[in-house]
Parts: sequence; C-alpha cells; structure tokens
Amino acid sequence: MAGYGTRFLPATKAIPKEMLPIVNKPLIQYGVEEALDAGMSKITFITGRGKRAIEDHFDVNYELENEIRGTKAESALDGLRRLMSECRFSYTRQIRMAGLGHAILAGESIIGNEPFGVILPDDLCIEKDGRSIIGDMKRIYENSGCSVIAVEKVPRKLVSKYGIVTLEKKEAEKEHNAFKVKDLVEKPSIAEAPSDLAVIGRYILSPNIFGLLKNTKPGKNGEIQLTDALCSLANDGKLIAYKYSGKRFDCGTIEGFVAATKYCCNLR
Ligand code: G1P
Repeated sequence: MAGYGTRFLPATKAIPKEMLPIVNKPLIQYGVEEALDAGMSKITFITGRGKRAIEDHFDVNYELENEIRGTKAESALDGLRRLMSECRFSYTRQIRMAGLGHAILAGESIIGNEPFGVILPDDLCIEKDGRSIIGDMKRIYENSGCSVIAVEKVPRKLVSKYGIVTLEKKEAEKEHNAFKVKDLVEKPSIAEAPSDLAVIGRYILSPNIFGLLKNTKPGKNGEIQLTDALCSLANDGKLIAYKYSGKRFDCGTIEGFVAATKYCCNLR
C-alpha cells in the first residue's frame, strides 16, 4: 500500500487512499475481512510514508469508544472489533516504491518460510454466496502445492494496465477453474498481449518466491516485478491461474470506485 493515490487528489493528500470508504467502510477493511474469512489471520501491511491512519484504524480509540458506549453508533464498530480480536497485525514500510515484487520482499522478515496470500486492496472482489476469492485460491494451493494467481478477462484496450497470462488448455484442478500458466508478461502493449486474461490483485505464494524476487532484475518501468518472478514458476509448471468469476472493482480508478460504491450501497 505504498502508493500515493494521486488519482484521488486532493482527497488523498493527508489520508491514505486505502482509507477512502466504499459506503462507510474503508477499502482496506474489505481486504482484511476477506483474508480472515479465508482463515488467514496474521495480517502484514506493507505501507509507506503517510499511512499511519491504517494502524489507527485497526487499533482502539478509547475516547471515541467511551463516547458512543451504549448508543446506536456502537454497533457500527462490530465488524472492526471482530477483526481486531481475531487478527494479528504487523506493519512494515516500503521505503521506496520500486514495484510490487519489491513490496513483497519487504514482508519477507515478517512472513518467513511459509506460504502466504497477497491482497491488493485496490481490487475489491465480492462473491455472491459468501465465498472469498482468496479462500478459493488457498484451497487450490493446498491441493496442488503450486502458487496461485487470480485472472479475469479484461477489455483488450486495458491489457497494458495488467500482467497478462497464457494458460494451458487443460484444467489443472477439476471443478476449480484452475489452469496451469504457460507464460505471463507485465503490462504488454495491445499488439504484444498474448491474451486478454489479466492478473488481478490476489496471489497465494509459496515462500520460494522470495529467492526468485531477489534474483529478479528491474523490469517494466524499472521496477522489480512480481510478474517476472512468477514467470520462473510458470516455466517449471508450478504456477496455477484461478479464473475468477465474481465481481471485481478496480477501486484505484474513480470510475471503479464509484461503481463499487453503488454496488455495495445496493447490497445494504
Ligand atoms: C500489479 C501487477 C500486475 C497486476 C495488477 C493487478 O500492477 O504488477 O501484474 O495485473 O497489480 O491489480 P499495479 O496495479 O500495481 O501497477
């Protein structure tokens, strides 16, 4: 979450973009709920300068809580209190923004030698029947032992915003919409894109990704790209793509943010 959120200025001048609310809940809280619902309760935030409000959000505010005790307003904190009692939070900063791969490496000393999930909170994913995308991906990891990425068909004109994949035709995991990845390329031009299947902001990674990232040279835009490290896994047949079929909103754009707000408002 080290990004500046420049598309939302001036709103993001003094508050992190992840604290912007979709209806009445900050974007980051949706991400943490998704993780906990999938049984992932150790949460590491990779933040940057100016993101302290996120730590305060997941901590107690005695004065406020004292003021609203016994009033109707109190129940608005129930969801957050559940997260605070069931999760353990750690924070670390990415000191310079040098790509998603670089951000993930910043978490290595906290994560250690364990598989882990990555949720990019800008991509808000909502499934209808109470399942969670990261939970479905976790199950695929547990069955296959392969790292898992989530993919979704995007309009061709948008391929240069995403990592784009080529998949094996045969399903790797029956009934799971899971396919082995043949190849992937970060933010190709429309002409170069091998498909219109884009990587969205959910990953289940095995800890060997850290070693691969350390050997990954700066790629697209001079940044350490997770996509490039994932290419090595794909070459070894160790990367699975999960074709996501739920709703996704790119809340990193104003249009996506507004669409998510309308959708979540209707769900209430
Ligand atoms: C990152 C990844 C990209 C992926 C995207 C999903 O890009 O590098 O492969 O498709 O997230 O949101 P970013 O949006 O951080 O530029």
